[in-house]
Amino acid sequence: MKIILETERLYLREFEISDAINLYHLNSDFDVIKYTGNKPFQSVNEAENFIKLYTDYKKNGFGRWAVCLKGTHEFLGWCGLKKDTDSKEVDLGFRFFKKHWGKGYATESGLACINLGFSTLNLTKIIGRAYIENKSSIRVLKKCKFKAVKNFTYDNQPAVLFEINYDRS
Ligand SMILES: CC(C)(COP(=O)(O)OP(=O)(O)OC[C@H]1O[C@@H](n2cnc3c(N)ncnc32)[C@H](O)[C@@H]1OP(=O)(O)O)[C@@H](O)C(=O)NCCC(=O)NCCS
Repeated sequence: MKIILETERLYLREFEISDAINLYHLNSDFDVIKYTGNKPFQSVNEAENFIKLYTDYKKNGFGRWAVCLKGTHEFLGWCGLKKDTDSKEVDLGFRFFKKHWGKGYATESGLACINLGFSTLNLTKIIGRAYIENKSSIRVLKKCKFKAVKNFTYDNQPAVLFEINYDRS
């Protein structure tokens, strides 16, 4: 197990093949993927292949990470940073099983990822994107100190672009 971050209640670790069943079930909930632009995995095998082909950790030194509860090790969802191949921008993303919404897990793990991004990964900017309808995601980004930059259209839907800048001068 490769643990990347610890918070008061949580730890974030790299995905493992055994997470496939959880990723499959996570993306099978329409309410969870409603504002993400993702489709459900067709099978646990497809989720397993996704993990096998996930190269972000090696390529960028960071990625999306499994978020687990300290003590029980329960897989709650994921949170983490992603570098866009073309723009090179790094965004913060999060996704949790519905039964765990509203417990502050996205904010707690998101703040830890931002801190890592600026303190250890030497990033100078992290962005966040959320559809305007995705009120909880916008609330989490604001609680993580993101500032709204502009409204824009993302995958044909009205969205807000957020960013946090870190001044190294
Ligand atoms: C978005 C998501 C990650 C938030 O996770 P979470 O662990 O519930 O987030 P937190 O508990 O840290 O914070 C949620 C905040 O949103 C608020 N909220 C929830 N529903 C809301 C609504 N309809 N309108 C306004 N605020 C809302 C909560 O009250 C809470 O704010 P508070 O602490 O000030 O009360 C979770 O809902 C999720 O997995 N959604 C599906 C995937 C997704 O949409 N990801 C983001 C794509 S951009």
